[in-house]
Amino acid sequence: MRFTRTAIAAAGLASAATAYAAEASGSDVLVLSEGNFTSTVEAEPLMLVEFYAPWCGHCKNLAPQYEEAATSLKQNGIKLAKVDCTVETEVCAAQEVAGYPTLKVSRKGVFTEYNGARKADGIVSYMQKQSLPAISTLTADSITEFKGKDKVVAIAYLSDKDAADLEVITKVAEAHRDDYLFGVAHDESLAKAAGVTAPALVLYRKFDEPEVKFDKKFSQDDVVSFLKAESVPLIDELGPENFMTYAGSGLPLAYLFADPESKDLQSQVESLRPLAKENKGKLNFVWIDAVKFANHAKSLNIQSENWPAFAIQDIEKNLKFPLEDIASDLTSKVSSFVGQYTKGDLKPSIKSEPIPADQDGPVHVLVSDEFDKIVGDDSKDMLVEFYAPWCGHCKKLAPTYDQLGEKYAAHKDKVLIAKMDATANDIPPSAGFQIQSFPTIKFKAAGSKEWIEFQGDRSLEGFVEFIGQNGKHKVSVDLEPVNDTAADAAKKDDAPHHEEL
Ligand SMILES: *[C@@H]1O[C@H](CO)[C@@H](O)[C@H](O)[C@H]1NC(C)=O
Ligand SMILES: *[C@@H]1O[C@H](CO)[C@@H](O)[C@H](O)[C@H]1NC(C)=O
Repeated sequence: MRFTRTAIAAAGLASAATAYAAEASGSDVLVLSEGNFTSTVEAEPLMLVEFYAPWCGHCKNLAPQYEEAATSLKQNGIKLAKVDCTVETEVCAAQEVAGYPTLKVSRKGVFTEYNGARKADGIVSYMQKQSLPAISTLTADSITEFKGKDKVVAIAYLSDKDAADLEVITKVAEAHRDDYLFGVAHDESLAKAAGVTAPALVLYRKFDEPEVKFDKKFSQDDVVSFLKAESVPLIDELGPENFMTYAGSGLPLAYLFADPESKDLQSQVESLRPLAKENKGKLNFVWIDAVKFANHAKSLNIQSENWPAFAIQDIEKNLKFPLEDIASDLTSKVSSFVGQYTKGDLKPSIKSEPIPADQDGPVHVLVSDEFDKIVGDDSKDMLVEFYAPWCGHCKKLAPTYDQLGEKYAAHKDKVLIAKMDATANDIPPSAGFQIQSFPTIKFKAAGSKEWIEFQGDRSLEGFVEFIGQNGKHKVSVDLEPVNDTAADAAKKDDAPHHEEL
């Protein structure tokens, strides 16, 4: 999975503070330095390496979980190691570590991205999956243990005639080795014991109905849809440890935001079970601690803090559909809302500031409600800064950006310099992109529909040069005389770091 908006949402969910357990002396985590890094990783068939900085908060939260996972994985012969990047700068530079913590899986020194959770059991389950072939061949001796190895285990029962089906399953297993555990049983007696006839695929689960049979002809698409729909419980509690599973499923999430202290919690959750069942494979239903994750509710445009509340989120398209005021008649209100959603009758909620009465400042103030109108005018080259009021780098950029606006004031018919407070305005789906950090600066040339990201030097010269090169109008502005105070201040901070949402 790419590390995109979903990952950031997960980081946000993960913000619940975890105590930093001081490192015990009997740690099972190896400490690596420049002198022994290469020799250690090259000797291990499979290991996990954490690149961290001692001051980093997410690293501190991870530390006790990482320790616990290291101890547990010892019995599988899988080692966990860590590298302090404030000391071992060359090792971390060579690994192109760009943020902390960075976790990488190493196979004899060949590194790949770690895509698992950051909780002990998640790390253990992920690394165990990495240690197995994408698909394990099962026998009467191994099948029982294999079924219990993870929350969800997929077993294909295939005879020698089912070569094409085996190929389908193998391809799915290779593409989804991070997500599910796959086994194949060729022995007819095993199929018989499972109550199926080859070719068959059965999912063994530690929740809801423990066994689910795939009932279609084997094709990669149908097998993957089946796995996605059936590998999560009908209504689970959502938290940092399972958010990525849901985000990666490709299905919209239907949340019940509930107060965990409420005596009605259980009945509220249960009342949505039939609806969840009806919409299985279309929507994933979850409930979430509304008190702990009130900010998540806010990010889905739920305005009040009157729980319960409900929302549907299409994570891939970043569409939000909040529903409030449901305390009375929860089931029927949610049911009719979900019905409208699945019919495509609901409009997504798009947060916007009011359209400014006038645009007096040097930089155009863009809001969601006016986004399509302004951006749709493709006679102009357009530079838009997406910022957050609290973001330090945005504040630092402001004087330079104002100067830039002033420079192009005489060319407003050709070049628009704009900014949008992306905490008070949702980026409409029509934009075709979402942003991952502040500030994000995007450019669109006149006559084009394509946004490109500005990643150059955030100085007046840097912007002017970029607009000159990439714009259609090739407007050139006079950089002399330049009051360089602001530009110089911005330049000092030339490391391309971003702040998290
Ligand atoms: C690697 O070297 C560091 C620094 O000399 C040492 O503290 C650490 O224990 C060594 N790790 C291993 C696995 O040998
Ligand atoms: C230059 O710009 C800075 C920041 O915008 C401002 O404080 C300063 O007064 C300006 N200096 C001159 C000479 O215009």
